[in-house]
Parts: sequence; C-alpha cells; structure tokens
Amino acid sequence: DKGNHRHFMLKEIYEQPVVVAQTLRSYIRPLEEQVALPDMDFDLSSIERVVIIACGTASYVGMIGKYWIEQFARLPVEVDVASEYRYRDPVLLPNTLGVVVSQSGETADTLAALRHMKEAGVTTAGIINVPTSSMAREVDLLMPTHAGPEIGVASTKAFTCQLAVMAALAVNLARVKGKLDEVQEREIVHHLVEVPAAINEALAYDDAIADMADTIADARDVLYLGRGTDFPLALEGALKLKEISYIHAEGYASGEMKHGPIALIDDNVPLIVIAPSGPLFDKTVSNMQEAQARGAKVVLISDADGLAQAGEDAVATIEMPKVHPLIAPIVYAVPVQLLAYHVAVAKGTDVDQPRNLAKSVTVE
Ligand code: M6R
Repeated sequence: DKGNHRHFMLKEIYEQPVVVAQTLRSYIRPLEEQVALPDMDFDLSSIERVVIIACGTASYVGMIGKYWIEQFARLPVEVDVASEYRYRDPVLLPNTLGVVVSQSGETADTLAALRHMKEAGVTTAGIINVPTSSMAREVDLLMPTHAGPEIGVASTKAFTCQLAVMAALAVNLARVKGKLDEVQEREIVHHLVEVPAAINEALAYDDAIADMADTIADARDVLYLGRGTDFPLALEGALKLKEISYIHAEGYASGEMKHGPIALIDDNVPLIVIAPSGPLFDKTVSNMQEAQARGAKVVLISDADGLAQAGEDAVATIEMPKVHPLIAPIVYAVPVQLLAYHVAVAKGTDVDQPRNLAKSVTVE
C-alpha cells in the first residue's frame, strides 16, 4: 500500500525518520548512552581488521563504513563489491571480521562471498534487512536493519538504516579496541539520536527539490561530487539517478575531478556537489569552482554556513540542517534520493519498477 504517496519509493523515503529511529533504538542503550550490538559468541575485541562486501547501494554503505571504522576503531578496512571479491584471490588474514551488507539477504554474489569467507574460517557479520534470508541465517552475527519491507527497486530506507547499523558497529569496535572513552561514546550516541529529526528537516526540502528537477531532467549526463564520506554518497546519487531516470550519471571523489572527469564539463552537464560545511568543505568548493569556471551548472547541497560561503554562483541550492560530520551522510542521503525521484517523475519513467532491474539480484 502506497498510502498517500504516488510511488513506493516516495513512501519509503518518507518512512526514514521512523525506520531509522526504530533501527537505532535496537542498537542504543538509552540509559547508559552506549551503543550495543546483538549478543555474539565470539570476542569482538580480538578483531584486527574488517572486510566489507556488498553490491550496489549496499556497497556504498560499506565504503562509508570504512571511513568510520578507520576513524573511530583505528582498524584497517577493505571494501569490495561482491562480484569482484569472490573471483579474485583475496588475502584473508586471521582475526578478520567479514561483514556483508544486503537489503534482501539473497543477492547471489554477496551470498557467495559470505560463504567464501566462512570457508576460509573468517568470523562473519551481516547488516541485513530481511531476517529470514539466506545471509541472515548464515552469518555468525546478524545485525538486522528494521527498515520494513522495501518495495521500490531503488533502495532508500534500507540504505539509511544500514548506515545507522554501520555507525553502531564502528562505535562498538572502537570501544572494545579501547579507542573511545565513555564521554566520547556518549557524544556520538547523542549525534546518532539526532538523526531522525535531522532527516525530517531534510524532508522539508522535498518541494524545493521537486521545483529544480526540470533543470536536470533535460541533461544527458550528470556528475556528482563529494569528499570523505560524501564521496560514496556521490556514487549513490549517481546510481539512484541512473536507475530510475535513465540519465547517465557518475559520482567522483571531488579531488579526482582534475584527473580526468573535468574534461566532460560544459554548460550542459549539471554538477551536484554534496558538501556539508566542515573541515573538507573548502577543498571541495575549490574543485567545484574549477568546474564552474568551465561552465558547469552547480547544484550545491550544504548547510546554511556552506551555502552562505559558496552558494552564490550555484544554479540551485539545497539547504540541509547543520549536523555533525558523523551523521551527515545519513541525512544528506535524503536530498540525493529526492532529487533522483523528482527527476524521474519529471521524465515520466516507471519509478518503482525501472526497466531491466530486479529488486533482488539472485543471478550471478
Ligand atoms: O539486496 P541487496 O542490498 O543485496 O541489493 C544490492 C543491490 O542490488 C541494490 O542495492 C541495488 O544497487 C539497488 N537497486 C540500488 O538502488
């Protein structure tokens, strides 16, 4: 049932404040203000490295997880798409935690990668939305997302719920590795608890985003830029736009622009820049300005401070609430999803059932 919404995708975008809160609730002990994972029958503190495997949107959760786990737990993290991981000859060292991320829990390549890791004797964990799925049954530690059924082929609420669980995993690893004291953990928990409200604030820009969709709907190519955890979000934005609007889109790490993609820039190529204010902001803005100098039409997604500093020459801006850098990728996912959605609606494509795509990819 789509409720009052025109498409399942839009309904699922709007469910995010509730389902992300629901997911966070099962990973946060409110009294202790601590993160908590489900019970496990192995010693998490013995983990010395993490390998994260997934496909598509779930793989971007893995990339963001890499930034978080490295930053907080100081453990080395490797991320790969399942279809590459399973066919190369990966080096699996002792004391590795192998993490799979999957909405369906049935994606054939991710399942095969999970079995490969298990056969190699690696302890496995899964961030999975369908609790009865094959992956949910086979991982050593199931970390469920509580997004509820996701019908739209384009993943939205599963993505933000997966990020919430990934953040909990990073914080828990950091604690057991002695890299986070109580005060620091409490502070992070406070930021996580703010996520649902911040998503609500982001949703308030729905109409404004719908109004700018026409400027992108006519483009043949669109580029997305981001740095740090906003780089995987740039990849996610491009994937979402491709999937449902059929516009060719690519996401790049901001600093990579000058190593090739800037050659594509002219006034027909919209550039979506995802840049919350903060330590990485100035660098990304200078990449953005290099593109603007070559005629790029920029849509800048930032907070009030960022827009005041660099929004002047943008053809459009999307204002996000000011949030802590940790939770920014969860909150900034919302305008990225809405932009893809409204461009697809403007183009009249089948948003919930895009051509050539299946919700669950059970073929290799
Ligand atoms: O069910 P999974 O999370 O394992 O699916 C992985 C990808 O097939 C999926 O995220 C795909 O990229 C989505 N259609 C993205 O919107």
